[in-house]
Amino acid sequence: MAKHTVVLLGAVVALLALLASPALAHNTNSTTNIYNTNININLSGAFKSVFAFGGSGTDNGNARLTGQLQNFVGGWKNIVEGHLAAGLGTGSSTGSDGGGEGASGTVPGSAGGASGLVSASTSEGGISGSASAGGDASGTVSGSASSGGGTPGNGLCNGGLVIDYLCDALGISPVPPYQNHTADFSDGANFALSGSTALPESFFNHKNILSLMLKNVPKRIDQQLQWFNNFIQKAKNGGGSGTKPDMANSLFWIGGVGAQDFARIHNVPNLSSSWLSKNNIEQVANLIQGLVKQGAKYMVIQGLPPVGCLPLHLLLSPITERDQNGCAAKVNKVVMNHNELLQRRLGQLQKKFPQCVFVYADFWKAYMKVLSGYHQFGFAEPFKACCGSRNGVFNFNLRHLCGSPKTFVCQDASKHMVWDGVHFTAAMHHAIAKMFIHGGCTHPSIEQLVEMKMGKIRR
Ligand SMILES: *[C@@H]1O[C@H](CO)[C@@H](O)[C@H](O)[C@H]1NC(C)=O
Ligand SMILES: *[C@@H]1O[C@H](CO)[C@@H](O)[C@H](O)[C@H]1NC(C)=O
Ligand SMILES: *[C@@H]1O[C@H](CO)[C@@H](O)[C@H](O)[C@H]1NC(C)=O
Ligand SMILES: *[C@@H]1O[C@H](CO)[C@@H](O)[C@H](O)[C@H]1NC(C)=O
Repeated sequence: MAKHTVVLLGAVVALLALLASPALAHNTNSTTNIYNTNININLSGAFKSVFAFGGSGTDNGNARLTGQLQNFVGGWKNIVEGHLAAGLGTGSSTGSDGGGEGASGTVPGSAGGASGLVSASTSEGGISGSASAGGDASGTVSGSASSGGGTPGNGLCNGGLVIDYLCDALGISPVPPYQNHTADFSDGANFALSGSTALPESFFNHKNILSLMLKNVPKRIDQQLQWFNNFIQKAKNGGGSGTKPDMANSLFWIGGVGAQDFARIHNVPNLSSSWLSKNNIEQVANLIQGLVKQGAKYMVIQGLPPVGCLPLHLLLSPITERDQNGCAAKVNKVVMNHNELLQRRLGQLQKKFPQCVFVYADFWKAYMKVLSGYHQFGFAEPFKACCGSRNGVFNFNLRHLCGSPKTFVCQDASKHMVWDGVHFTAAMHHAIAKMFIHGGCTHPSIEQLVEMKMGKIRR
């Protein structure tokens, strides 16, 4: 009898744990897919150079070099180094916020949006804070500052971005940010700019816009095409790195653009997300056509990740509006529609430019594959930010963004999918890059792209 009760209790506890954990609450049988779709391809030498465009997920230094990031961004490196210098566990700028900060989850300038999770952080604040102070010191650097690929702290990440790992796979060193005027651009350049938006700058004079990690009014996507055109012009004139790039042997990568637009406007009344999507996709289409005009042939265009799974949106949206993954349902619906629309637009462009190959990189699918088997990828924390406030279930607080005072860096960033609550970790970027290259998460596959380039198969 008693034994049955224990077993039953155990089952109830297990069930509760299952329900409480957003990642486990969804489909349990898709993890094997990761391996079923393995594509073995050696990309080394497939392209001579890479030109990248996009937003914060692709920017490896342009926003920093042009002074557009808030001063605290990258401050996490001081936190990490401070720990090292001080030896163990001083953590004065970190975990000392045990009490009192718990209720601070309210969004500056947000009236009604942040309901459910703010109360969650109120109750959690004391607990996580008190359990913490000083605990992070030892292993902080390992797996965070040293992850391969990019220069940690130059972008909004602790290390490499998808584009950096892609360059690795192509056998070239990560292409430097265009705004580094002393860099060597012979393998290509990265034009991506954090905070790039589909909206005109004038729009951002609206006072309720969430600025997050950015200091200035964000630049529109077309800025990046201007930079690229200047780059080409300069090369033609024999300036810059000299030779004009070999366009037919270059890979053009367009990372996600404007994901943060959806967050920034969360408090702007009556702004339709479908209007925003259409606007954004037309900007991307303009960028693509501008590049084609310059002779680009092979292009990968990334869809948006399910940003509703990021702490930012989990905090801003009511806890009652969750999807089967435990993510912000409305936001993810918007992203889903956006990605559908983007793919349709790419189809039209493919018809218009049959001499080109446009590949859609399905970030949504790649993310979901990683999420559904996150342990297999070495992650322990699918939703919690590595760097941020200690308050709340997601280590995220809009008043204490990663790098600002009273924030901390987790012990092992490679165990977290989310870096600062708004962007992913280097480890996650690495996993996503692998999903794009080997996991069948692009359409057509990268393998097919390379075969088309070599003339082995026709479109
Ligand atoms: C499990 O896999 C099958 C076959 O691929 C699929 O039809 C089904 O929807 C999956 N179940 C869940 C819960 O994802
Ligand atoms: C990939 O190809 C390059 C050159 O074609 C070669 O040097 C390298 O060893 C290959 N890598 C693997 C893992 O096979
Ligand atoms: C710019 O590029 C040079 C040469 O590669 C490098 O030494 C320097 O660290 C870079 N600066 C920044 C801020 O990225
Ligand atoms: C938003 O829409 C509501 C209802 O359609 C309307 O009453 C309100 O004036 C609109 N607000 C703005 C700022 O356009």
